[in-house]
Amino acid sequence: MQAKIIDGKAIAQAIRHDLKKEVTSFKDTTGITPHLAVVLVGHHPASLSYVRGKQKGCEEVRIRSTLIHLPEETTEEELLNTIDRLNADPDVHGILVQLPLPKSIDAQKVINRIHVLKDVDGFHPVNMGRLLIGESGLLPCTPLGILELIKRTGEPIEGKHAVVIGRSNIVGKPVAQLLIRENATVTVCHSKTVDLPRYTKQADILVVAMGRPLTVGKDMVKPGAIVIDVGTTRLDDGKFYGDVIFDEVKDVAAYLTPVPGGVGPMTITMLLKNTLTAAKLQWNSRDGYDR
Ligand code: GUN
Repeated sequence: MQAKIIDGKAIAQAIRHDLKKEVTSFKDTTGITPHLAVVLVGHHPASLSYVRGKQKGCEEVRIRSTLIHLPEETTEEELLNTIDRLNADPDVHGILVQLPLPKSIDAQKVINRIHVLKDVDGFHPVNMGRLLIGESGLLPCTPLGILELIKRTGEPIEGKHAVVIGRSNIVGKPVAQLLIRENATVTVCHSKTVDLPRYTKQADILVVAMGRPLTVGKDMVKPGAIVIDVGTTRLDDGKFYGDVIFDEVKDVAAYLTPVPGGVGPMTITMLLKNTLTAAKLQWNSRDGYDR
């Protein structure tokens, strides 16, 4: 079998095209320009590049963005004060604190401080909890992007066996919840799973978010599966590689995402969508925030 390659870049572009129109229409109705504040602490090289991508994405769909770039030595208290200021600013609709943070700062404490309605990463415990119990709220961007890629294959999710490798708060756990919400039967594997191929070979939908490049080969994949590769690791040759061995799995899977150009472009697109959603949520609760 020759897999259809899922073109995340093209799908992301199509979504941004529609989003730009939605942003314009929201502005026309409310007079409000959705505004994303990105907080970056220090000079982590990958983070700088992600943040630039986010700013560029905002420009593309006419969302206003502000970068608050704080020095590496910023204390937890200073960062929390910055969050408080952004929470209180009615012109800011989305707050994203770029991770990882310096070790001296408790990242979860910072995430917990972001107003629930401005939490465009969907990492706040209230938004995570809403996802768990099936209530609407702001959902994490990478999992939303993954779900969109799976849906756009046109294949049904209901009743399928989805296997997720990885249990991070950012990807593994929320993507498993989203798939449960779509009525898939979900198995979550992780670094302590014994006999990983036993599970992956049963997967109609396989989401690989291990962060270990070139790990999932053709012997681990069920023929005809949808395979979503979330990994991106830059190896010594300077190129980015996924967790999946693309050249092997493309001959077994029915659908496969490339790296780069698969999940990556979707994450920022979902962040832009979440920023518009956040602006709408705040507009709808303008007579008093409901938490
Ligand atoms: N660093 C890597 N991925 C992410 C993400 O999705 N959100 C934030 N805030 N930081 C990240």
